[in-house]
Amino acid sequence: MRFTDMVVLVTGAGTGVGRAVARGFAGEGATVVAAGRGRESLEQTVKLIEAGGGRAAAITVDVTDSAAVARLIREIVARFGRLDVAVNNAGIFAAGAVADMPEEDWARVLQVNTTGVFLALKHEIAAMRAQGSGVIVNIASNIGAHIRVPGVGAYAASKAAVSALTRTAALENIGAGVRINAVSPGPLDTAMSLRPGETEDDRAARVRESLPIGRVGALDEITGTVLWLASDDAGFAVGLDLVLDGGASA
Ligand SMILES: NC(=O)c1ccc[n+]([C@@H]2O[C@H](COP(=O)([O-])OP(=O)(O)OC[C@H]3O[C@@H](n4cnc5c(N)ncnc54)[C@H](OP(=O)(O)O)[C@@H]3O)[C@@H](O)[C@H]2O)c1
Repeated sequence: MRFTDMVVLVTGAGTGVGRAVARGFAGEGATVVAAGRGRESLEQTVKLIEAGGGRAAAITVDVTDSAAVARLIREIVARFGRLDVAVNNAGIFAAGAVADMPEEDWARVLQVNTTGVFLALKHEIAAMRAQGSGVIVNIASNIGAHIRVPGVGAYAASKAAVSALTRTAALENIGAGVRINAVSPGPLDTAMSLRPGETEDDRAARVRESLPIGRVGALDEITGTVLWLASDDAGFAVGLDLVLDGGASA
């Protein structure tokens, strides 16, 4: 119960990693604010948390909208009194070789994955500096932040930027009591790691051949790492970009 009575924001909490991380924090005593665009999926996350005896609220937000992100943070502080932990997890994927990628796809990926994390950091840091403490974990990716893969240029650029932004913001804010780190996962057990037309069995076969560990990462494995980074157990971890990719970048 490392997060008893703490207020934790998770973006992109209606699905995949975000939902698993939200449930993890709630299971350790936090009040969780599940944020994202789709109200129904967020409310489903809240229901799952409440069914397990936890506390959560759903607030819709588009992380590319600065005014909406500012409103989200204001609402959290007004309703719950503070913001102890934020996990900036919302993100999208788009494949396409650099020479072929439509400019709109490039702009959309950068807007959600990079500007979205920048805007969240900006408003979260302001609230946390005002209260004199806080922890932020950004979800980057091993692709871009640590390895390069042909056909994934925009996503790689967007996540390399998250890694750089994490370390810069960490240095800027640790003196004010705000601790910032990132996690860079490899392929995880969510829909995002499926290639177009690929089944879970196809993915398992591909990953068995291509990833040193031979399997995708389980949601429990990323959740455990994010919770550790957000906890006092990781109190000396500042500006870390922790690669969690089954050996891909080793
Ligand atoms: N799965 C992997 O293999 C893998 C590997 C490395 C890194 N990651 C990273 O892990 C994070 C979570 O991925 P996932 O696998 O859980 O994928 P996912 O299920 O697609 O989750 C992404 C979440 O982000 C939300 N989102 C997208 N655009 C948004 C916006 N503009 N504003 C607010 N929320 C938005 C989506 O909800 P709405 O559409 O309802 O808003 C969704 O809940 C992403 O940052 C991803 O890049 C994943």
